[in-house]
Amino acid sequence: MRHFWQHLKPPFFVLAPMADVTDVVFRHFVLRYSRPEVVYTEFMATKALLARTIPASLRQALSFSESERPIVAQVFGAEPAEMFASAQLIRRLGFDGMDINMGCPDRRVERHGAGAALIRDPSRAQALIQAAKAGLDGLPLSVKTRIGYHSMETAAWIGAVLAAQPDVLVLHGRTRQELSAVPAHWDEIALAARLAHDAGVLCVGNGDIHSREQGEDYARRFGVDGVMIGRGVFGNPWVFAPHADRSEAEKLQALADLITQFSGFWQTTKNDQSLKKHFKAYVAGFPSSPALCGRLLASRSAGEAIDTLAAYFHHQGWPFPEPVYRPTPEPLIHATHA
Ligand SMILES: Cc1cc2nc3c(=O)[nH]c(=O)nc-3n(C[C@H](O)[C@H](O)[C@H](O)COP(=O)(O)O)c2cc1C
Repeated sequence: MRHFWQHLKPPFFVLAPMADVTDVVFRHFVLRYSRPEVVYTEFMATKALLARTIPASLRQALSFSESERPIVAQVFGAEPAEMFASAQLIRRLGFDGMDINMGCPDRRVERHGAGAALIRDPSRAQALIQAAKAGLDGLPLSVKTRIGYHSMETAAWIGAVLAAQPDVLVLHGRTRQELSAVPAHWDEIALAARLAHDAGVLCVGNGDIHSREQGEDYARRFGVDGVMIGRGVFGNPWVFAPHADRSEAEKLQALADLITQFSGFWQTTKNDQSLKKHFKAYVAGFPSSPALCGRLLASRSAGEAIDTLAAYFHHQGWPFPEPVYRPTPEPLIHATHA
């Protein structure tokens, strides 16, 4: 049976998984401004997914709604039995696909043999892919990884991943060692895309894409089926649409909207200080940005940040439409073990 990835018209666009960013509110926010063909959740530990009681933070990460489909749940783990059981759970909860993270450089993840540590343990990586496929029972599996650990070893590492036959390879064009400090190696992504296609696997390229036009150009030049965008969505929720450049007022209005949706939905259940990572991206590039950014960062609550933006609009002589909280269009599926 064909899975959803095979129905997407290339080049398709994907919102990257980003911990503490791409929760249900952020995904809805982005989807209202421009529409990637696929969205990913934040990553979730297989161990935590299988715990007797799911912690609140994990339930938040699992929340999604119908209008986001197709949505892929990303997990990390190092034990095939836990991967199998997590895949069964992800399937039961109604996600459209699952992804195994094999690229995260966080020491807390690597310490358990998961994330990027799997690049140094290809046979375990293959066992995890096989276990996930068995648990998913036909639901598509993607693997998101990098081009090597200490050095580029694209052909050998990607060859090992492909031998276990995931449905989709998502490749961030940097090694574990490079973190995000150097430009992504798209030539290596092109090599991996050729290997993937020879193995009958779709390939999504990831790294340093900042517009739809650039993504379409890179997909053509480097032969990938789709393009994943992560940091390019910071300060630019229009990134998946053509001609995404916007004025300062439009950007600041979008920021006010993001703050409003976040605080309206999560209320006190999530710390609104996590919004601060967005402030700089929305104000960057305009003459008054350092001062405005300073004032926004000093705000002690979402309400104070909105007041700061309102005062700035007033000072500029721009109208400031009061942002409205729009609850998500359909009832959320709040994932539980039930
Ligand atoms: C704040 C942040 C959180 C991230 N969290 C995850 C994650 O949970 N899972 C994952 O596979 N990658 C994660 N990444 C990596 C991105 O998905 C992506 O691979 C990387 O940022 C390179 O793409 P970009 O240049 O489009 O940002 C994260 C990146 C950022 C900036």
